[in-house]
Amino acid sequence: MLTTLGDLLTAKRVIVTVGCGGVGKTTIAAALALAAARQGRRVLCLTIDPARRLATSLGLREMAHEAQEIDPALWRSEGEGTLTAMMLDVRGTFDALVTRYAANAQTRDRILNNPIYREVSGSLAGTPEYMAMEKLYALRDDPRYDLVVLDTPPTSSALDFLEAPDKMIEAVDSPAIQAFVGAFERTGKLSLNLLSKAMSKVLSGLGTITGAEFLSQVAEFLSDLQTLFGGFRERASKVRDALMGSEVAFVVVSSPDPMAVGEAMFFVDHLQKHHMNAEALVMNRVRQAEDLPTPSADRLAGLLADANLSGAPELAAAFSRAWRDMSTWARRDALEVARSRREMASVPRHVLVPTFDEDVYDLAALAHVAACLV
Ligand SMILES: Nc1ncnc2c1ncn2[C@@H]1O[C@H](COP(=O)(O)OP(=O)(O)O)[C@@H](O)[C@H]1O
Ligand SMILES: [Mg+2]
Repeated sequence: MLTTLGDLLTAKRVIVTVGCGGVGKTTIAAALALAAARQGRRVLCLTIDPARRLATSLGLREMAHEAQEIDPALWRSEGEGTLTAMMLDVRGTFDALVTRYAANAQTRDRILNNPIYREVSGSLAGTPEYMAMEKLYALRDDPRYDLVVLDTPPTSSALDFLEAPDKMIEAVDSPAIQAFVGAFERTGKLSLNLLSKAMSKVLSGLGTITGAEFLSQVAEFLSDLQTLFGGFRERASKVRDALMGSEVAFVVVSSPDPMAVGEAMFFVDHLQKHHMNAEALVMNRVRQAEDLPTPSADRLAGLLADANLSGAPELAAAFSRAWRDMSTWARRDALEVARSRREMASVPRHVLVPTFDEDVYDLAALAHVAACLV
């Protein structure tokens, strides 16, 4: 069992951090990107998380859809490495996909300018997840980068994310879509009978767009969109296959919370079942105090006196309690770390990152995290 991720940073082209919400995926992704850049690689850190904190911790004012290179002076680059950050543009990626697979320029423009497309393309369930995979696939061969580190979305489950290409294929092939498309092919128009009363109410409430106008837009959109489906399906299966490639590493992030460890085990299992490479487990925010002896009453009294607090005996009691609690937490965390090593022994690298006193909000703090990882 290796206790460093250093080799991944040089050997892989793509690293994806997965895990449940709040465990530190974004932090670990950014720290890995920083570590790799310091090793001389040209790294792109791609995120879906608009977290302002991530931008600041990377030394940026805010995350943008365009690639922003981080000033090497800020992270003391000695070699040839570069560090670039970019936030996924779900709409833009979808547009690029439409552009790629539209049969001709007219169809492309009709879809891109269709108000329904404009409304739904950024917000459809599963779209951000799929578009992240799509973007990853497109960036994998980008000559500007040696390594792309992808941070997965803040809220949705990592599973949605990993299954996004399959879901895309399923959606295109789904009976509902096929039936809809079939109905169009026969009549060339969407039958009004297909719409329930409730739906008509919704439509009439849509402000400037009248029901009829809206329907013809739906009809046009769906019939245009179906010309893309063949391309979408093929592309999605390529994206899925690419995720199984040996140049892609999945890093599962967890905290020592029993529930989070349970989820991490589930992700590892899922990755392995689907032939995706679970290369590392990062146990983040581990509380470590078990090795420190509890201070004696005398020592405590001395410390309080040094701080001019000797007149407050209740402080000594509170301090002792806090110390005991900390040791208890640290012992519990150690048990979870041991459990995760045991239960996920098939994962070749296990790394531990302690919990820091403060949130990770600048490059210096990120460098501390990076030092634990490599
Ligand atoms: N090892 C750590 N010590 C202290 N704070 C941490 C650590 N790792 C992450 N954090 C903080 O925890 C919060 C959640 O981390 P984040 O990376 O955004 O999680 P996720 O992307 O999994 O939702 C952030 O405020 C981050 O600064
Ligand atoms: Mg995040």
